[in-house]
Amino acid sequence: MSSGMRIIVAEDEQEFNLRAASLVVETLESLNNPLVTFPTGMTPLGMYRALVAEYRDRPLWRTLRFVSLDEYAGLPPDDPRLFSLWVAKECLDPLSVPLENRMCFVSNASDIDAEARRMNEWLLIHGPLDLAVVGIGSNGHIAFNEPGTAFESGAHALALTPESIRSNARYWGGEDHVPRHGITLGLANLAAARHTIVLASGAGKSDILARALTGPVTVDVPASYLQTISNVSILADKAAAQYII
Ligand code: PGA
Repeated sequence: MSSGMRIIVAEDEQEFNLRAASLVVETLESLNNPLVTFPTGMTPLGMYRALVAEYRDRPLWRTLRFVSLDEYAGLPPDDPRLFSLWVAKECLDPLSVPLENRMCFVSNASDIDAEARRMNEWLLIHGPLDLAVVGIGSNGHIAFNEPGTAFESGAHALALTPESIRSNARYWGGEDHVPRHGITLGLANLAAARHTIVLASGAGKSDILARALTGPVTVDVPASYLQTISNVSILADKAAAQYII
């Protein structure tokens, strides 16, 4: 495990959500006009609720700049499966983050590779990220950076792996409803972030968290890039942290 890594273990779900929210707010308040990316999924849901309940009146949200972490490709702008709509509903809208401060992937862009290039060019001008908040997939993916993705990758389009399709099926009522393609910030975009917060909860994440943080740094485990960067905080519940404490 890299020496600059901070590991915080939460006793229960409530502590997990409150610690996640306070860690995000503390980090953002230490920065000027921060550029942040936030994850979707089950893990961060309680954190968003805690941010809204405890911190919605903080001035920081008015100047926050948000960039998409990942997105399904090929969906129309009103499709309820869009991650951008999910993050808007759970977090950005209730916190009143200005619409003009949100840089989101356009899911139904006619040329999805060009859309990825647009994001990379935008990040060259407006980046790097000040804070990346990410979850970890049970196969070690970070956002849609699936096993095998180069550490040097920028934003890119991709085909979802069968494992990610299976894991996303729980949100949309079955694998048939999960889009087959996605677009994501790349590992190089994420590794450039000045601060990183990783959220992991549940025993299902315990093996992969240990492999990512203490195993070899390898493209087979995309999250192992975390060992190569500084200012990383891991927030895990006891079940997820069982092999790293
Ligand atoms: P989860 O997803 O928070 O729903 O477990 C994490 C991920 O797959 O990145």
